[in-house]
Amino acid sequence: MSLHFKVMMSAPLNKFQFATCSAPTNIATIKYWGKEDVHLNTPLNSSVSVTLDPRDLNAKTTVCSSSSFHSTRFWLNGKEDKNINKRVQKVIEEMKKIAKDPTKWQNAHFHIVSENSFPTAAGLASSAAGYACLVACFAELFDVKEQFDGHLSTIARQGSGSACRSLYGGFVRWQKSNETFSNQSYAVQVADEFHWKELCAIICVVNDQEKETSSTNGMQTSKDTSTLLRFRVEKIVNERLQAIEKAYLAKDFATFGRLTMKDSNQFHAICLDTYPPIFYLNEVSKKIIHLVHQYNHISGNVQAAYTFDAGPNAVIFTQEQHVEEIIALLKRFFPRTNGLSIHTSLQLNKHTKISSVLEKNVKLPTTKNGIKMLYVTRVGGGTRLLGRKECLIDLDTGLPNKTYLLRHKSTSSRSPDNLTLAVSIVGALIVGSILFISSRRNN
Ligand code: DP6
Repeated sequence: MSLHFKVMMSAPLNKFQFATCSAPTNIATIKYWGKEDVHLNTPLNSSVSVTLDPRDLNAKTTVCSSSSFHSTRFWLNGKEDKNINKRVQKVIEEMKKIAKDPTKWQNAHFHIVSENSFPTAAGLASSAAGYACLVACFAELFDVKEQFDGHLSTIARQGSGSACRSLYGGFVRWQKSNETFSNQSYAVQVADEFHWKELCAIICVVNDQEKETSSTNGMQTSKDTSTLLRFRVEKIVNERLQAIEKAYLAKDFATFGRLTMKDSNQFHAICLDTYPPIFYLNEVSKKIIHLVHQYNHISGNVQAAYTFDAGPNAVIFTQEQHVEEIIALLKRFFPRTNGLSIHTSLQLNKHTKISSVLEKNVKLPTTKNGIKMLYVTRVGGGTRLLGRKECLIDLDTGLPNKTYLLRHKSTSSRSPDNLTLAVSIVGALIVGSILFISSRRNN
């Protein structure tokens, strides 16, 4: 009997139950920062976000169950995570409770294989997409029916707050809880993805490394120490939310953009008001802020709006007709040695040049290699169930499939970079010389 056949016998195909889903990222235009209840992961204030098109940035996950699995295992971007995060465990437990047949899943184990199409944990809302995707997969596998609108979002929220907004497309509010019911903190769709199709987002990846202060830790320190945070929660957010939702529904970019920028600035002011302060923006972020303000000033209108989450990467919202011009500006002021690469599903003329008016009037020093790459996308839809072809698990073994592993080979078992290689060569030369000298001495 071949090994392959043995594996199939111990885990026959029909014993696997699985679901594969994709989920989008979302970018808050009125930020969530601060928890009312850490355990329930409810927010101090309501927030609102734009869901980005999952064709450009998404998380994809397969959850598989089989009686042959002895434990729950989790792979992210090609690497197995041996200590499954408590929040992942919490989401699984909560989903089990609302399964159509909870007894069936009580003692079940799962293999969860997940990937992001963009840098993980670099302030690009990868946890939002990841947890929304996990919830969508379990909802499918467990045949869950929501007991109230937004029920699933109350579980996604417990994975990561911002994840509850990634279940829906378009423009989404995460409602803070009211005094009586904690589970009344859920997400609601304000407008679907077809409402403002011209709305686009240009994501400037300034840094794709993991951030120094996680959102979870950062917001707790802000809650404990920032008086500005309290002022924002009590006096600012509600009015801003109403105004931005109205602007979104009216497709009033100038108001939408102004509020988006002001809220991003206030969030980062709170980070500075936190003790000790948190710095998420860097010099490149600040130059992008200057560039957007100058662009708007010269254009005589708010045509672009930046926002920054817990990292230095900028998201610039604009409408479709200005996308190429803004990309040209970014290329002009943040050139890369081998050209600034652009990942997008939009049909763009990537060779547009900036107008002579902009060339003459924008006053900004050129920052070479300041931006690593751009993602250009538009507003998009929520979580989606994917077909069998998209499954990330090998249905013979119940383990991550070859295509998935190959896709992540370069990142999970990274070959030594140039610096490591240089250090190793110099090290080897030094050791070699010492051995050579000591052998000559001994002779
Ligand atoms: C700055 O949702 O990552 O992106 O609930 O602790 O997981 P946890 O925090 P998380 O915080 C996101 C903060 C933000 C603003 C936002 O998305 O609203």
